[in-house]
Amino acid sequence: MAIEIRATGRAVPKNRVTNDELAKKIDTSDEWIRSHTGIGARHIAGEDQSTSSLALEAAKQALSAAAGKTGIDEDAVKEQAATLDLILIATATADYYGCPSVACLVQHGLGAVNAAAMDISAGCTGFVYGLETASGLLGISDSRKRALVIGAETLTRVANWEDRGTCVLFGDGAGAVLLEKTGETGKRGIVRSVLGADGSGSEALIMRRGGTKNPFKKGETVELPTVIEMDGRAVYNFAVKAVTGAIEFLMDREGLAMDAIKYIIPHQANARIIHAAGKRLHIPEEKLYLNIEEYANTSSASIPIALDELNKAGKLQKGDIILTVGFGGGLTYGGNVIIW
Ligand code: ACO
Repeated sequence: MAIEIRATGRAVPKNRVTNDELAKKIDTSDEWIRSHTGIGARHIAGEDQSTSSLALEAAKQALSAAAGKTGIDEDAVKEQAATLDLILIATATADYYGCPSVACLVQHGLGAVNAAAMDISAGCTGFVYGLETASGLLGISDSRKRALVIGAETLTRVANWEDRGTCVLFGDGAGAVLLEKTGETGKRGIVRSVLGADGSGSEALIMRRGGTKNPFKKGETVELPTVIEMDGRAVYNFAVKAVTGAIEFLMDREGLAMDAIKYIIPHQANARIIHAAGKRLHIPEEKLYLNIEEYANTSSASIPIALDELNKAGKLQKGDIILTVGFGGGLTYGGNVIIW
């Protein structure tokens, strides 16, 4: 048995905002953002879009691709959706507080009447957690065969646009993969994962208001809606250690040499974090996939968006070994070894 990726999809809002455009409204510059983060632009969801609408679009792209179609083919989507046993959505920016889950909204939007649906809350590591969770749920039961795992976010809705240290970092988008349990006997698909957490860093990335611990009170004058607060230095230090540690662990356990790996797909939070980790581990630059310049940090969507880009560009061949590695709010970290 193997849990293999059958198809991928992505959705990003059309509204692309460059650093120069942002600098007209915020006290920042293209030079500062690029030199500190590697970001050149971000895509911002329109008023008619939400985390669930982006997730639904990415899901439809993946299901259409699974049927051999380019773009979205609604008939193919309907047919494929009926075969789904599970929909997992990793997100830190769900449409609604608590319930319904984004996964249930997508389940309804797809007409996936046979699928269980739930969200995963693991910050930017959510997609990495999602792949391992779905693999386990497919593997443990004879009756489950196909799962959609999606990372979807509208982080620009929870950015504090008065805090130039954080608002320039985020973008919106979604990426999806279709997993299928196959009879393959050799090593294929999701072969190993590492998942970890360090809750002692919970305050380093936090949406402090609006939850049940600090609810908005009746009559209160709210100066800011729920926004992300971040201790950038603390997250940076955690991230470099987490990324290097996860890659080393996965390579060690799988007995992998760097030469054997085609791509390492890191969470796209800051190009400096990725380069620092790459330097420590002597990873050749061409193996580290970077698209942060175009999308900024899309949290749990960044790895599946990158996977879809590589896949659609024809850069992944059967048998290629890929590592994903993520870190984020919680704090959490993790990685997957995937044999394409
Ligand atoms: N434009 C211009 N100047 C700025 C900006 C900006 N957008 N933001 C901050 N500055 C200024 C600061 O005011 C400060 O000026 P000062 O020295 O005069 O006080 C100076 O730049 C340095 O600020 P720092 O915050 O110290 O900058 P740093 O080099 O640490 O970079 C950054 C900040 C990019 C946020 C970095 O700490 C980082 O990337 N941390 C990790 C963030 C991360 O990975 N987050 C993951 C998010 S998890 C998720 O994805 C939801």
